[in-house]
Amino acid sequence: MREPHATMPSLDQLRQQLTAIGQEHVLAFWPTLNQAHKGALLAQLASIDLAQVPAWVSTYVLGKPAPSAAGAIEPAACYALTGPWDRAKYKAVGTHLIQRGKVAAFTVAGGQGTRLGSDAPKGCYPAGAVSNRPLFACLADWIIAAQRRYCPPEVTIPWYIMTSPINHEPTVRFFREHTFFGLREGDIMFFPQGVLPSFDLATGKLLLDQPHQLAVNPDGHGGSLKALASSGALADMHRRGVEQLSYTQIDNPLVRVIDPTFIGLHAAAPDSSGQMSSKMVPKAGPDEKVGVLCRVGGPHGPTTQVIEYSDMPAALSQARDGQGGLRFNAGSIAIHVISTKFIGTLAGPQGSGAARGSDAGGGGGAVGSAGFGLPLHRAEKKVPYVDLATGKRVEPDKANAVKLEMFVFDALPLCERSIVLETDRLEEFAPIKNASGADSPQTCRQIQTQRAARWLVTAGLGAAVPRDPAGEPACTLELPPTTALEPDDLRGRTVTIVPGGRVVL
Ligand code: UTP
Repeated sequence: MREPHATMPSLDQLRQQLTAIGQEHVLAFWPTLNQAHKGALLAQLASIDLAQVPAWVSTYVLGKPAPSAAGAIEPAACYALTGPWDRAKYKAVGTHLIQRGKVAAFTVAGGQGTRLGSDAPKGCYPAGAVSNRPLFACLADWIIAAQRRYCPPEVTIPWYIMTSPINHEPTVRFFREHTFFGLREGDIMFFPQGVLPSFDLATGKLLLDQPHQLAVNPDGHGGSLKALASSGALADMHRRGVEQLSYTQIDNPLVRVIDPTFIGLHAAAPDSSGQMSSKMVPKAGPDEKVGVLCRVGGPHGPTTQVIEYSDMPAALSQARDGQGGLRFNAGSIAIHVISTKFIGTLAGPQGSGAARGSDAGGGGGAVGSAGFGLPLHRAEKKVPYVDLATGKRVEPDKANAVKLEMFVFDALPLCERSIVLETDRLEEFAPIKNASGADSPQTCRQIQTQRAARWLVTAGLGAAVPRDPAGEPACTLELPPTTALEPDDLRGRTVTIVPGGRVVL
């Protein structure tokens, strides 16, 4: 979507433009619309980059772009969980940045959460294994704990939350109802991401959601980079002196929202450009459906990239290294640190350029890009639409539409250099994606319990955890960051847990 126009194009101008791109049907109900609806439709059409529509349709809707002809694909080098590298040194660097107010939290929460099937914003979903604290509260708790631990009283960690036009209002309302979960209202900034139109799968025609309204969808978590700039969030960060953004998703209550070690490594490792870094966990197996962090050859040399599981050649997914482990093992868990300077570079002078390297000039965007040089990805989905012949709204029972979106990890190859940090899956990866099965509220509860039990063991309190015959915790545990940011914070505590007990530590 484009920024609102200073002057709205006239109906005639829009009609001409729509006819030229074969999309004039979106005005089919014009004569029947009231003034308010006419105004709304004109404004919505004016906000769409109509000039891009033919390229989107031919490339992504009627065409199915093959995975880009990648050069040689090699595993990404990682800072391993167990070294050898100086963890304490980088933790000190990160802590120093946090202490000086140079770090903000950034959560993308604009997704539609269709797989979970809840109508409310996903961040409202009860996630605390025992307390049922909503996802937003779980992340807020981490920020509160990090602020207490690392910051002097006058320094805060601002929190930027990206919503979508669909869930913005309910998200802000939820925070108000919960008095911002103990954070200062002035330290939280909400802003909606952009949207992109949805297209009919067979014809590439824009779909109408209502006679006066196009069907649109949020433009993906990759839309966050553009939204940070266009919403004024980036300017707010500059005012506050924020240099690094700790990027996390809303669906993972175990995420280390602010991780000094990762932030320090990103900022100071000799092989990091300090632009954008990633965390990875070793893949659970060759068929796990996660993107993989790789080094991919390109015209300017190899770059770090995430290759989606569906685009990864099967032979590479299955390949083994000398020790019998998976050769391509770096599962992306969508945790990044991104510098505000890098985002500014991507924005470019016109707000839509992209360049590799912080010092390079503005480069061209990807084909059919919706901005910031990030490519678009297509997904076939069920999208309700208004039947032009009958004027009735249809709820399709199979995929009828193509939605386009951008992925934030597509900014990685635009970096000069980018590093990857290995982390432990149990320590910080318990996403809630599905209503049941893998990555569900149930698996999330189990992982929270296992992690809490592990921390108790590390802190010398393992005897307090009742176990079943298989050695698994026979209880449900929740360990909020306000109790412990790391296992050592539990040392010396007294803990009593009865078998089957449900305990917030
Ligand atoms: P997912 O890819 O899991 O999508 O988002 P989702 O929308 O939450 O769920 P489904 O696919 O509809 O079931 C990963 C993260 O990216 C955010 C989500 O809110 C989540 O934190 N996201 C996704 C956005 O902020 N905007 C988007 O357009 C898409």
